[in-house]
Amino acid sequence: MYLTKEEERMLSGEEGEVVQRSMRLLVRLGEIYGADRMIPIRSVQIAGVSYKSIGDPGTEYLEDIAKKGARVRVTSFLNPAGMDLADWRILGFDETFAKNQMRIIDAFREMGVIISATCTPYLVGNLPRFREHIAWSESSAVCFANSVIGARTNREGGPSALAAAICGRTPNYGLHIDENRAPGVMISVEAELSDIADYGALGYHLGKIVKNRVPYIRGVQNPGTDELKALGGAMAASGGVGLYHMEGCTPEAQIFSSRIKELEVIHVSQEELKEVYAKLNTGTEPDIVILGCPHASLGEIAEVAKELDGKKLKKPLWVCTSRIIKEASDRMGFTEKIENAGGRVVADTCMVVAPIEDLGYRTTGVNSGKAAAYLPGFCKQKVVFQGLKGLIRRVI
Ligand code: F3S
Repeated sequence: MYLTKEEERMLSGEEGEVVQRSMRLLVRLGEIYGADRMIPIRSVQIAGVSYKSIGDPGTEYLEDIAKKGARVRVTSFLNPAGMDLADWRILGFDETFAKNQMRIIDAFREMGVIISATCTPYLVGNLPRFREHIAWSESSAVCFANSVIGARTNREGGPSALAAAICGRTPNYGLHIDENRAPGVMISVEAELSDIADYGALGYHLGKIVKNRVPYIRGVQNPGTDELKALGGAMAASGGVGLYHMEGCTPEAQIFSSRIKELEVIHVSQEELKEVYAKLNTGTEPDIVILGCPHASLGEIAEVAKELDGKKLKKPLWVCTSRIIKEASDRMGFTEKIENAGGRVVADTCMVVAPIEDLGYRTTGVNSGKAAAYLPGFCKQKVVFQGLKGLIRRVI
């Protein structure tokens, strides 16, 4: 693998132990996947932030490298943490958990990572351009960046994303290379998608059937950004999908249009989406409804506020989002409407990376295919998976 003089210096330890270890990890990764060289990146998004996920070993590792002088070289955003970093007490999080979570946040801050605590960095100040090379690690953000924006990133793990941030580079393989972005299967959607949950159901189904191929999707009518983030999030959760193309919608679909004639075609029917709903619904009555997976946009929060206006909730309802979007929601009066009904706009965390099982919840209502896929395993939850209006009807 070719390394520039600067990269050789990093590898030889001239820039310190942490840079050397990080470069070693990147070179090893590159060798495994047959990369020819390193490529400079413009931004990083780092997962593995919740104390629930990384525990004491991960926390101590981050503190150790921060103390040894680890610093990021490019704009680096953080994935959601295990709790709302401001309102954790009101939401019922445990003091010890909070203390440990703040150690992780402090270590990242010391390294120069922006404490964005969100899986939708593209909505709040980290928007890559078309064809820009980046190293992101949260799978829904990876799928959105590659597919909807046309930026280039592999699905990085937490450690490789952090190493890329420290070195400002990533090995050139996988989805950084044109040829690997070509579609490998055609998906013909013959089902009506009328709610954002339908996009989650479709994404879940596609993740299961396309395996390691890049899907080229046709038949979806004019989806918005929120629908596409729901689709990609679910696809990345149920399968390894890091990129999809959508006819007439995503930027690279046109580039590959001459190649689609040879592709195997898989048809997706209404009946199959119904089966996804049946499979993902493992519970009946939610103890709590949690929306915002991937993190809610301001538009999605506005819709929840409108639905809850003048209503009273009998059970808790959270809308998870980033701190920046929450501040906009406060300013617009959406948060007040949601709180008046008994709900909450929760920032910095989500239903999967927060220890909701320790807060006493056993059945969670969601409108996200990704959350529905992860909640049973990550949080020991039964799931009620349906559209926003139906979920609200269950808790008023
Ligand atoms: Fe984001 Fe959490 Fe869903 S990190 S994509 S809200 S599982």
